[in-house]
Amino acid sequence: MTKGPVIAIDGPAGAGKGTLARRLATHFGLPHLDTGLLYRAVGLKAEKTGGSPAEISAGLEPSDLADPELRTDEAGQAASKVAVIQQVRANLLDFQRKFAAQATGAVLDGRDTGTVICPDAPVKLFVTASVEARAERRYRELRAKGVDTIKPRVLAEMAERDRRDSERAAAPLKAAPDAYHLDTSDMDADAAFAAALAFIERKGFRSTGP
Ligand code: DC
Repeated sequence: MTKGPVIAIDGPAGAGKGTLARRLATHFGLPHLDTGLLYRAVGLKAEKTGGSPAEISAGLEPSDLADPELRTDEAGQAASKVAVIQQVRANLLDFQRKFAAQATGAVLDGRDTGTVICPDAPVKLFVTASVEARAERRYRELRAKGVDTIKPRVLAEMAERDRRDSERAAAPLKAAPDAYHLDTSDMDADAAFAAALAFIERKGFRSTGP
């Protein structure tokens, strides 16, 4: 069986990489891993139990990934804090690499999927947007969910998370040298998907589905 493509998508919070990853996975019929969920699960469990993030990351259970609180901004901040710990990253590496090595191919999104997890991925995307555009989107999402917040606060939290994710010593957020840069500041999800798909098709990958 020919190995399917591995598509590695990285970028800061709120740039639209999760939505893009899901759409590409559906289009190509590939399994998708949101690697941020692993860090969120470690961060949330560490906050709830007071346990050591390194130990928690070594023994994550499927039920840890099902907690509805994982999607909150608090879990995102907790994830960003435990993600600076080298031992946590090392403990989560194997699972992510095995996911990427499936014969079908796979889509992974996160901060280091193209640089550390799958440096040989044939397709790498680096999805960005200005911090103002990302904060505006996040603010609207939160308001739509009924969360009471203000724009300056969302912007400050986003900038804080960007700084921590980019300045850490262990696998900081950065584009792989061969990544295709997609700035979604002035794009909606459809335009971002079309641009990413055009790039992937130029690389020679096409959907074989119906
Ligand atoms: O993509 P996200 O917002 O769910 O990620 C939450 C945090 O997890 C993010 O701020 C940094 C960390 N993370 C990471 O360090 N490496 C990844 N591959 C994915 C996420």
